[in-house]
Amino acid sequence: MERTEIYNQFEELNKRASQGGGIDKIEKQHAAGRMTARERIEALLDKGTFNELDKFVNHRCTNFGMEKKQIPGDGMVTGYGKIDGRPVFVYAYDFTVHGGSLSETNAAKIVKVQQLALKNGAPVIALNDSGGARIQEGVGSLSGYASIFYQNTIASGVIPQISAILGPCAGGACYSPALTDFIFMVKEKSHMFITGPDVVKTVTHEEVDKEELGGAYAHSSKSGVTHFMCNTEEETMLAIRELLSFLPSNNMEDAPLIPCTDDARRQAEELQTVIPEDPNIPYDIKDIIEPVMDNQYFFEVMPHFAKNIVVGFARLNGRSVGVVANQPAYLAGVLDIDASDKAARFIRFCDCFNIPLITFEDVPGFLPGVTQEHNGIIRHGAKIVYAYAEATVPKITLITRKAYGGAYIVMSSKQTGADINLAYPQAEIAVMGAEGAVNILYRNVTPEEKSGLIQEYEFKFSNPYRAAERGFIDEIIMPRDTRYKLIQALEMTHNKSQSNPPKKHGNMPL
Ligand code: HXC
Repeated sequence: MERTEIYNQFEELNKRASQGGGIDKIEKQHAAGRMTARERIEALLDKGTFNELDKFVNHRCTNFGMEKKQIPGDGMVTGYGKIDGRPVFVYAYDFTVHGGSLSETNAAKIVKVQQLALKNGAPVIALNDSGGARIQEGVGSLSGYASIFYQNTIASGVIPQISAILGPCAGGACYSPALTDFIFMVKEKSHMFITGPDVVKTVTHEEVDKEELGGAYAHSSKSGVTHFMCNTEEETMLAIRELLSFLPSNNMEDAPLIPCTDDARRQAEELQTVIPEDPNIPYDIKDIIEPVMDNQYFFEVMPHFAKNIVVGFARLNGRSVGVVANQPAYLAGVLDIDASDKAARFIRFCDCFNIPLITFEDVPGFLPGVTQEHNGIIRHGAKIVYAYAEATVPKITLITRKAYGGAYIVMSSKQTGADINLAYPQAEIAVMGAEGAVNILYRNVTPEEKSGLIQEYEFKFSNPYRAAERGFIDEIIMPRDTRYKLIQALEMTHNKSQSNPPKKHGNMPL
């Protein structure tokens, strides 16, 4: 063959492979309002940076006529490229080829990029759109999933792992995303469930459609499986890029420092009046978080789940921080099972990846009740204290108003290892609220006596001074100065070096 012919043949084969399941299938994918695997990768990565691997790999299955259904790449587009100039690895299920089903062979392609990502210390992003295990292959396909799950687990805490669900994601296939750090879903386009509506109907006689069972809204507001719900695939790709901007490429690096255009000493006068004078009136904790962060910007994670706690990323003087904040505007900011799970997982993520933690605290306590107790609030609530206590990143806590009882302790208090504990002058740090305390201590008093005792209790404990006298609060600050105070504490802790005793791993209450 002549050289030109060889090159032409390569270009022809390459073009054929790029078309996946073919023009008809691509049109069907578009008609369903979805992008193809390659279009998704194009939208995700910096322009012209994608290098595809294993484009000509094919399956070796001979069951059910599969030997005649060989399509180069076998329904999986894998490779590496860049996001904001930093290397990332990516794999995308190609629904146009056998419904994006997982074969033994295309699972090996995924494992290859997972291993490359781990070895080279770069994030890995999975773009899921798949009918699950390739039915014709049986156990070969199942073993493929097992290898992927294994790699997900080994890479956990070493490199960020991100999953986008962009179509169906059924059965055990859900467990690879579940093992990654963050999951994105698209409204009305993506679904995750262990068993679909038909199986649910057969087994439990419940009638439910796939959106209600496992759509983006269900998983971002009810199950807490999904961290981000996006309107479109394009929005999803932009959100993944933004998330990565707050993260280091691996656990040996710091997150990128972004040049800060916002004055570090900027005062936020509005913070002087954000907290209502009546301690029983709620306010939105984001009205405190946003004004203090660089460019007043806060990138919230899981905004629809357990709204009584707020978590997310922001920057202080250009440096990435993880924010954990009680939300008085929802259930008075009480800690319950879901809030505990949400916060603990986020705290651990930040600690894995060297992202300092800023805690805004206004918490009346743990939520009482039979449902909470029987569902294990003790076990779940313990996760927060465990996560904070084991975290060795800089930890800065600001008590804005209430800090009561066990909830005071677990929200990054001094003795659980916080580096700097600040409080506003209106902070209340006590075992419980004044009325509850007097009801327990003085059962047989007149209403007049009771009101005097409440006032006495408030005078004694509904302030930050008792804690400050003992050094549990390092500094009481004016609300308007919050930004500069946090930045200074962050700079002071920049070279913090702390390690816990060597161990295989701790035994976190799960
Ligand atoms: C092989 C599959 C497939 C699969 C879909 N296809 N799923 N091929 N194995 N798992 C093929 C179809 O035969 C069809 O091929 C093409 O993909 C597109 O599928 P359609 O059904 O036409 O598309 P759509 O109507 O959009 O429905 C998509 C779907 C449905 C909802 C995903 O295909 C479906 O329910 N698939 C099966 C889902 C499932 O039960 N998977 C197993 C889960 S258990 P042609 O040639 O016609 O284009 C599992 C175990 C994992 O995954 C365990 C891990 C531990």
